[in-house]
Amino acid sequence: MTEQLGNPTLENLLTETRAFPPSPELAAQANAQPEIYDRASTDRLGFWAEQARSLLTWSTPFTEVLDFSDAPRARWFGDGQLNATYNAVDRHVEAGNGDRVAILFEGEPGDTRSITYAELQREVSRAANALGTLGVTTGDRVAIYLPMIPEAVIAMLACARIGATHSVVFGGFSAEALFSRIIDADAKVVITSDGGYRRGRASALKPAVDEALAKGETTVTNVLVVRRTGQEVDWTAGRDIWWDDALAAEPDTHLPVPVDAEHPLFILYTSGTTGKPKGILHTTGGYLTQCAYTHLNVFDLKPETDVYWCTADIGWVTGHSYVTYGPLINGATQLLYEGTPDTPHKGRWWELVQKYGVTILYTAPTAIRTCMKWGEDVPDQFDLSSLRILGSVGEPINPEAWMWYRRVIGADRTPIVDTWWQTETGAIMISPLPGVTATKPGSAQVPLPGIVADIWNDAGEPVGKGGGGYLVLPEPWPAMLRGIWGDEQRFKDTYWARFPGIYFAGDGAKYDDDGDIWLLGRVDDVMNVSGHRLSTTEIESALVSHPSVAEAAVVGASDDTTGQAVVAFVILRGEAVGRADEVGEGSDVVAELRNHVAKQIGPIAKPRSILVVAELPKTRSGKIMRRLLRDVAEHRPVGDVTTLADNSVMDLISSGLNAAPAAD
Ligand code: WT7
Repeated sequence: MTEQLGNPTLENLLTETRAFPPSPELAAQANAQPEIYDRASTDRLGFWAEQARSLLTWSTPFTEVLDFSDAPRARWFGDGQLNATYNAVDRHVEAGNGDRVAILFEGEPGDTRSITYAELQREVSRAANALGTLGVTTGDRVAIYLPMIPEAVIAMLACARIGATHSVVFGGFSAEALFSRIIDADAKVVITSDGGYRRGRASALKPAVDEALAKGETTVTNVLVVRRTGQEVDWTAGRDIWWDDALAAEPDTHLPVPVDAEHPLFILYTSGTTGKPKGILHTTGGYLTQCAYTHLNVFDLKPETDVYWCTADIGWVTGHSYVTYGPLINGATQLLYEGTPDTPHKGRWWELVQKYGVTILYTAPTAIRTCMKWGEDVPDQFDLSSLRILGSVGEPINPEAWMWYRRVIGADRTPIVDTWWQTETGAIMISPLPGVTATKPGSAQVPLPGIVADIWNDAGEPVGKGGGGYLVLPEPWPAMLRGIWGDEQRFKDTYWARFPGIYFAGDGAKYDDDGDIWLLGRVDDVMNVSGHRLSTTEIESALVSHPSVAEAAVVGASDDTTGQAVVAFVILRGEAVGRADEVGEGSDVVAELRNHVAKQIGPIAKPRSILVVAELPKTRSGKIMRRLLRDVAEHRPVGDVTTLADNSVMDLISSGLNAAPAAD
């Protein structure tokens, strides 16, 4: 049972035969009907042009659809111009929908705000004017470091309105991580808050910005500070400005700046296989087209009646595409919730679904598994009958969690859309369509109409039905990344070199006998912890930056709740070994190292366990054999050790591990 809570194994996928067709009522009224697949495959580029024209308003219409002559950098709708914020806000007001609620905000302490599209337009206009007053112009970068409050969305939209490129940094990242992202993007302004509410208390955010900016020279001239908690904050005169004061001084009208379709809309950093996070670059026209198209069809959104809720933080790509851009472009009403699912009680999410009549819920498998652990009597206390579509994203969803989600949350009635995509793809790529597809527990199933995906073997040959291999995206798509900020070569090497000229996603996948796709997790040194991407190398670098550590190896071990968990193996330096006379989990050194990782990267990167070892398993050429460490971390018999330089090492590590107390 516990085994099955982790990522799906090949065996349980192969035996999964259940399928759930949509109800006739849902199918009849769905935005996407079966013909859409044919229409898209008959004329793929024509199909995307049609989506771009019908879903977005262009200030200069495009005539060119795709130019891939400078591959791998694509140009979509390249000669068109538009403004993202005009599309997300103003045009809804102009169409007479200014009174429709855009954002229903619920703070963790229970404070609420309801913001209509007309109010959003005024607020975003003031913020855009305020950025202009600070000297921010088209092409500049702005870092956003905020909790999940409406100002996070407003700040993103204010940037887009003037053509400034935003770089949102997850509020859970450390000052160190914020600093490196500010430096990499040469941000001119940072937008932050005094703090936010988390787990029943006010936690501070501004000190991390102060600390980041004190680490070295930056291009930051001003820090805008949203007042959320009323905490005392240190103030740097001339640099720091209260958001409220800045906005109050500005008019509430502002003309959105039309930009080229390929103008950089945002940079979002994500972990790769090396230590340095990659600044994934997304541009405007293609990205917005695919966000709007997927949001409308995958969630079957009816903007007049649905109440949509995506639980992701805007610090991740899901928050960009399915909190800020997709829903607002489509004129949706959405819930924005600041806090955690278990504050003040474990039924908070379900209470919110009941209170706001949420109809579409989009969340991550790790959250579903956590709720499973808390027991179904928790959601059972609330009326969840408003729900009609459930979405999943971030990692493979195991069939047990999928079934629980459908039965307990969806009353055995709602389709589940398991959506596969990445920071790099910008928007959903593989997913069932809720009114068309008979859904299967644990499978993302089919590329969306207009998207081409395939599974290839090592030699770059399609594996066909029943086969397994690497997930590839053989054709360009509108929301694809346009590069890695400031590192063209890394962009080419990371995604386009494994199979020359073809996008390699880094995921393993398998076709079942019906030709449906089952995602099997990463095939590189990238871990997926609670749907968040972490790099083994980045955590290893953080560990070896500690004076007590001589060497470190990190692996992602399967975990019942978080999918994978960070497990680190460290060799201590001579002096430190003395300090760790008992080197078990509870030792001072281990606690210190866990905190060190949190400080270097952020609490999400904290290893679940750190094992102090005398040696690491290495090949004769000196490469660490993570595969063997994963065996140890997952309490499996250690696999083939014949390529080890010294095969007694594994006995040493295993015996040390068994002696250590269990991880928390
Ligand atoms: C990686 C991308 C996409 C937004 C959240 C994560 C894994 C994502 C699924 C899914 C199986 C999934 C992949 C992918 N992943 N969704 N439905 N089924 N795996 O974005 O941080 O860029 O991570 O998350 O491994 O490569 P990200």
